[in-house]
Amino acid sequence: MLVTTKDMFKKSMEEGFAIGAFNVNNMEIIQAIVDAAAEAKSPVILQASSSAIKYARINYLMKMIEAAVEEHPEVPIAIHLDHGPDFETAKMCIDNGFTSVMIDGSKYDFEQNIELTKKVVEYAHSKGVVVEAELGKLAGIEDDVNVSASDAIYTDPAQAQEFVERTGCDSLAIAIGTSHGAYKFKGEAKLRFDILQEIKQRIPNTPIVLHGASTVIPELVEICNKYGGNIPGAKGVPDEMLKQASTLGVSKINVDTDLRLSMTAGIRKVFAEEPSAFDPRKYLTPARELIKETVKHKMVNVFGSSNKI
Ligand code: G3H
Ligand code: 13P
Ligand code: ZN
Repeated sequence: MLVTTKDMFKKSMEEGFAIGAFNVNNMEIIQAIVDAAAEAKSPVILQASSSAIKYARINYLMKMIEAAVEEHPEVPIAIHLDHGPDFETAKMCIDNGFTSVMIDGSKYDFEQNIELTKKVVEYAHSKGVVVEAELGKLAGIEDDVNVSASDAIYTDPAQAQEFVERTGCDSLAIAIGTSHGAYKFKGEAKLRFDILQEIKQRIPNTPIVLHGASTVIPELVEICNKYGGNIPGAKGVPDEMLKQASTLGVSKINVDTDLRLSMTAGIRKVFAEEPSAFDPRKYLTPARELIKETVKHKMVNVFGSSNKI
């Protein structure tokens, strides 16, 4: 069933679990995520960045997601724009049937971020669509946003409260030490749970979103490197920390890098072990299976969203 995130977030806040938001770029990724959600009996958010939309094209994305919804009518599925860069992109997604959009004004100053977010909220709400906004800066590389690690700015709890009150956004992405990509920490992984708790105290009814939350699963990195890859020293947010975040009021956890690693590991292994293989189904089938395993693991063992349909 195609839904907004409203009801799933309400349940997540009442029962203390998080919902995975997984980035989609093609058919195999969509199938793997939704099949995993069906097996885990978990609600799920499929999200597409503006570069994913450019790559796959919005009509294809929507039709493939419609097919997934038809195949698994029992699974609550939200379609979300990830890191919407401007009003026009958010509007295009809303007009094409997305049930949720993110407007990422974190690259702007506080007042400009509020102004842009308000504009998107006004349009989205008039169409029954919900809005995620972002306050604070994640270290790393986002779509059109490049913030060096030294520039990373944790979300200020008082500002978060003012931001939500003034914009009317439905959920808020915060910066507590995560970052996008496969290189999140140089030394020990560290998240500012104290900031998360203070934010949650000030805005207890606003679902909180964690971006840059891939685990960078060591086994997958190892497979990639073993079969010709070169991604040394990759490091993500350990499962235990994500589990803690899920129980402390984080309602949405964004995952892209772990899906990329799953797909690449599956493909690399076939290429290395069977150099004569050239039927794409030969390497995309195990790649899809690995993505499904990764997603199901998170739903069942980390986010606590299984059996929450
Ligand atoms: O946060 C960014 C997501 O991983 C999407 O990345 O813009 O390369 O599709 P992308
Ligand atoms: P990762 O790079 O940690 O998977 O984060 C993805 C993300 O935040 C998408 O918005
Ligand atoms: Zn993100």
